[in-house]
Amino acid sequence: MMKITTIVNPKRVFGLAQLRAFSQLAIKQKEVTDDKMQAWQIHCYGGLDELKLTKAKIPMLTRPSDVLIKVDAASVNPIDVAMIRSYGATTLNLLRKTKGCCENRPYSDIEFPLTLGRDFAGTVVSKGHGVDKLKIGDEVWGVVPIEQQGCHAEFVLVDSSLVNVRPANVSYIEAASILYAGLTAWSALWYTGGMCYKTVLKQQKKRILVLGGSGGVGTLAIQLLKAWNAQVVTTCSADAIDMLQNLGADVIIDYKESDADSRVIAEGPYDIILDCSNQGADTVKLKGYPHSNYVTLNSPLLKNIDEHGLLFGSIKNLGDLIKYNIPTSENQSFVKWGFFVPSPTGINVIQELAENKQIIPVVQEVYSFGELPKAYEKVGEGHLRGKVVIDMR
Ligand SMILES: NC(=O)c1ccc[n+]([C@@H]2O[C@H](COP(=O)([O-])OP(=O)(O)OC[C@H]3O[C@@H](n4cnc5c(N)ncnc54)[C@H](OP(=O)(O)O)[C@@H]3O)[C@@H](O)[C@H]2O)c1
Repeated sequence: MMKITTIVNPKRVFGLAQLRAFSQLAIKQKEVTDDKMQAWQIHCYGGLDELKLTKAKIPMLTRPSDVLIKVDAASVNPIDVAMIRSYGATTLNLLRKTKGCCENRPYSDIEFPLTLGRDFAGTVVSKGHGVDKLKIGDEVWGVVPIEQQGCHAEFVLVDSSLVNVRPANVSYIEAASILYAGLTAWSALWYTGGMCYKTVLKQQKKRILVLGGSGGVGTLAIQLLKAWNAQVVTTCSADAIDMLQNLGADVIIDYKESDADSRVIAEGPYDIILDCSNQGADTVKLKGYPHSNYVTLNSPLLKNIDEHGLLFGSIKNLGDLIKYNIPTSENQSFVKWGFFVPSPTGINVIQELAENKQIIPVVQEVYSFGELPKAYEKVGEGHLRGKVVIDMR
């Protein structure tokens, strides 16, 4: 069993006040015999063969609010697979520079080696002096912002605001499957879709269409919406119908049936369409699904900046948003872009729902740490029913 000791970075330049804080930073230290860990990393962009199991440095606490987690399980998300192909690199490098996520590394070295993985369950092994809500040894779950080094490694360093004690009724494998997809569904519906206003204003029951209810985000979106008392219509392949019935969806439509589009239209109008199946605003408009707000999780935001640079990419993003949102006599609906948001508020909402069994985790397949590339391959193939999880115990 690896032991851990001082994991603050002494190379940082400190003033007197900072030095005082620094000396208290790593309270509850343990002894160190090895400062290395196993991590799946990429050293350049490309295909899945770029994933290499490497010996990496155990990350060091650098802020009073940091916690170091021994990872017990982590999920694989479509963004992990996309990031291997350099998706979002321009924006993420900019965030890494401006947010100082690379303090322990030379400036020229902020991108590689890159560890992927965004949500995890694990055990707290060290914490900064500003962390009161967690104890060493707590079994926790949490998320890592996308510009930071991820959790497909034995240890992950993360701000304590993004880590909670894991609900007792959720196993570590199940816990690892929930938060990234759950926070994506939560922010896309609650803020982007405007469910927050609708619930606060206590308007009549909302009717939401979840396109692609069978995947990681869709299964959680359905459950969040049912917890918020909305009516949920969803689309999926035939084999997923029973699963989505168990999650509480009110109307389930097999999108491969010939009358699927007419059934979706007949079940409308929808306050929100949440598109978890990457169909796009043009397709939904063409199909004539009646709605007020269309929220896609596959916006061109990062891709435009990757392709056109920060300035022209941002201008293109603005243009794309305006193009879809100019009201005309025949189109009064809005097109909005939904994203994963690493939000402590969102984590607390999901925590409470999981504790109350209003969120049931859906784990399709569990892989060992050594089999991680196979798990990426599975996610890359699509057609998921819930989540794919890596067991690291
Ligand atoms: N913007 C963000 O921050 C963010 C965050 C998370 C996810 N995402 C994106 O959101 C999407 C959903 O994520 P996820 O993790 O849920 O992906 P996922 O687990 O791969 O789920 C996608 C689901 O959609 C189903 N599907 C495919 N085509 C469909 C169609 N025409 N109609 C209905 N269902 C269809 C798939 O099953 P079958 O093909 O077998 O029917 C699968 O179950 C992905 O494209 C992902 O990249 C974005």
